[in-house]
This record gives sequence, structure tokens and C-alpha cells, in this order.
Amino acid sequence: MPAHAVLGAQWGDEGKGKVVDFLSGHADVVARFSGGNNAGHTVMNEQGKFALHLIPSGIFWPQTVSVIGNGAVVDPDTLLREVTDLERRGVELKGRLLISERAHIIMPYHIMLDRLQESAKGSRAIGTTGRGIGPAYSDKASRSGLRAADLLDLRALKPRLKVILEHNNTIITRVYGGEPLSLDEVYSKCVTWANRLAPFFGRVERLIHERLAKGQVVLLEGAQGALLDLDHGTYPFVTSSNPTIGGACVGLGIHPKQITGVIGVFKAYCTRVGSGPFPTELKNEVGERIRHLAQEFGATTGRPRRVGWFDAVAARYSTQVNGYTSVVLTRLDVLDGFHPIKICTAYELDGERVTDLPGGTAEFERCRPVYEEHPGWDKPTASVTNHKDLPEGARSYVERLQELIGAPIDIISTGPKRHETITVRPVI
Ligand code: IMP
Repeated sequence: MPAHAVLGAQWGDEGKGKVVDFLSGHADVVARFSGGNNAGHTVMNEQGKFALHLIPSGIFWPQTVSVIGNGAVVDPDTLLREVTDLERRGVELKGRLLISERAHIIMPYHIMLDRLQESAKGSRAIGTTGRGIGPAYSDKASRSGLRAADLLDLRALKPRLKVILEHNNTIITRVYGGEPLSLDEVYSKCVTWANRLAPFFGRVERLIHERLAKGQVVLLEGAQGALLDLDHGTYPFVTSSNPTIGGACVGLGIHPKQITGVIGVFKAYCTRVGSGPFPTELKNEVGERIRHLAQEFGATTGRPRRVGWFDAVAARYSTQVNGYTSVVLTRLDVLDGFHPIKICTAYELDGERVTDLPGGTAEFERCRPVYEEHPGWDKPTASVTNHKDLPEGARSYVERLQELIGAPIDIISTGPKRHETITVRPVI
């Protein structure tokens, strides 16, 4: 039963969109299991350039069915926009897109609360994407969320929505001094969503089990990254779901034995959007150069991403949590011409050398990187498709990262296009 997960192995934005698009050629089903439209995948293929936030990047391969599992949170306005855009540009969705009836809906009050909570935190703000993710998952955990299935029964929805909205309006107005939302307006949005989106809601869990039982290939598309995981990341500077491998089981209703491959996607350096500890951050012209060369600006919010050297301490921790069977290394070409290239192999914490990730944020913020230096390379790696054509310096950098990550680097991405990829060993 071959399910393969593609997971962000750092702080998100590792280039999973391209990897999933590349691997989807071998897949029958592509499934998202966590997060919502806080994610942003840029996919470039023969049909053009697409920025997807919710719909899995596998949608561009005609043989695939794309699904969004119960562990994800769905903003119906975003979903409608993506559905409309893809259909307008000729991507067929009928019978190819299914959203779990159990997935929670991001409501307008979640988006409002996300922004109000962030501004109330002042300098300790998390730097969320402002898409309502945290409040939607909070409502899920406190059992006052609304799910896709609720949109299919509008008569039962209205009295529930009334109670839920009154509660949220009390928080919006009394705690944050914001403007209350009107029941009629929110309900009429629900009616519009139900009319347009009902054909896409269904039993994702059943579909996945049926497909796995037939021996089909299911690709589990991660969002965000291991270090943004609610439990395993740099809490509280994390997202509100579990982008690690356990989240794939919970978020799709599958069990661990059904997952045969865990593919970790690492960038050849690190980036992070939003606040929180980032020991290898480069607040200098080297960081600035990488940011501009690689266009490191958030696909969802356009914010400049913080940039730093590869952090092997964080990488090893990520391998420990996710158990990668394969690694994809992206954006190697960005480091063409950099001398030296640094790799963080340990932290110095209060005068001591540590090689694992501290659990406390205050401790993590005090960690200073201990670097080893790599000489770099001059000949470009950009667009190289054959491993033997990589310059010697790039090959030894990749080998060193592989040793430090503790899992085989099977694919190397050397550019944004589908074909700008080196397959060292097929992963599916
Ligand atoms: P939220 O998920 O919008 O609540 O944001 C929480 C934290 O996760 C913030 O630091 C965001 O910048 C970060 N984050 C959320 N989604 C992504 C992503 O897809 N890529 C990178 N960072 C993300």
C-alpha cells in the first residue's frame, strides 16, 4: 500500500510545490492533510505559472485525483478563487477534486480574530499569515468549529452558527474592541459556499483507503515544515497544526503502516517567515544577496523571508521526528558562486556546545551557531539535470549535508522548472 509523504523539513517554503508537481507524474492521488491557505506553492509547468494555497499541486497531472483531508482547514473563499482560476485556465476539476466533509471551515470571524490577536501581542506577535489558521484550529479543539459537512445541511447550520457567532462577536467586541459580524451576512456567505462547493465535498477517507487497497500511489502533500509543527516546532512561533508525519495519519485517517516513503524537502540553506528563533539567520549582505537572488519573499503574504545558512542541528531533529527515507534538496543553484558556504553543526548555549534542539524558546533564542566552512564552487549548478555534471564542490557540499541530515539525498532541484531536477535514485 504505497503512500509517500512529502514533508517540509525546515521552516516551510522548502519548494514542496515543485517536488509534489514533479513526483505527481507517478501518483494516482495527491492529498493535503494539514494547514490551510497559509501555505503557498508556486508551480511552473507547461500550462504556466500557478500560485496555489489550498488545492494540492498534483492537480496539474490529468491522471491524479487531488484531495484535502480532515486535518486541513478550508477557507471557502480561497477555495472558490482557486477553483475558478484553474477552471478558467483549462484545468479540469470535475471528479478530480475532493474535500473531506470532516475538514474544518475557516470562518470570517477566524480571520478577524487572527489579526486582532496578533496586533494585541505587539512586539511578541507570531507573524502569522493572518489567514485565520490559529483561531480555526482553536475552535476545532474547543469543539465549536464548523465543518464542510455542516455546509451541506444549511437548515441545521443556522441555529448553530447563531450561537457560535454570538460567542465570537463577544470576544471580538469586548476583548479586542473590534466590530461584530452580522449573522445574516455570514450565513449568506455559507449559502453561497454551499451552492458552489458542495459537489467537491465527500468521503476522502474512503477514497484513500479504496485507492491504497488497489495498490495505487498516494502522495501525501505536506504544508509548512517540521519546525513550524505545533508540538515539535519552535513553540509558540509555530503554526496551529502538525505538518510532521504523525499529522499525515491523523489528517487523512490512514495508519502508519500504509506510509512506505517519507520524503523530507530541505533547501540548501534555511529561510523562515514570521518571528521566532533562527540561529543561523544572516542579517547582513550575504543574507540580502541570497534573498534577492532566490526571490525569498512569501508566496502567501509577500513578506521578505529571513535567510540563513543550513542548520544541521535543526535538520537532524527534523529527521528524528519524521524518519525520512529520502531527501530532496532544493535551490542548490542559489549558492552558485558563494565562498565560503557555512553549515551549522552545533550550537553554543550559555558557553556550552549542544547538538540537539532545546525545547524552550528562550533557550533556543540564546543559541549561537557553530559553523564549519565549505569552499563553495564556481561552475553553475543551475539547470543541471545529471549528477555527474555537478561541479565537484557542489557534489561534496551535497554529500556533507546528506551525512549531517542522516538520510539519502535522492533528488536535487537546480531550478524552478519541472525538468531542472537531478534524480540520483528514484524515490517512488
Ligand atoms: P499561521 O500558520 O498563519 O498561524 O502562522 C504561524 C507561523 O507559521 C508564522 O510564522 C508564519 O509565517 C508561519 N507559516 C505558516 N504557513 C507557512 C508557510 O507555508 N511557509 C512558511 N511559513 C509559514
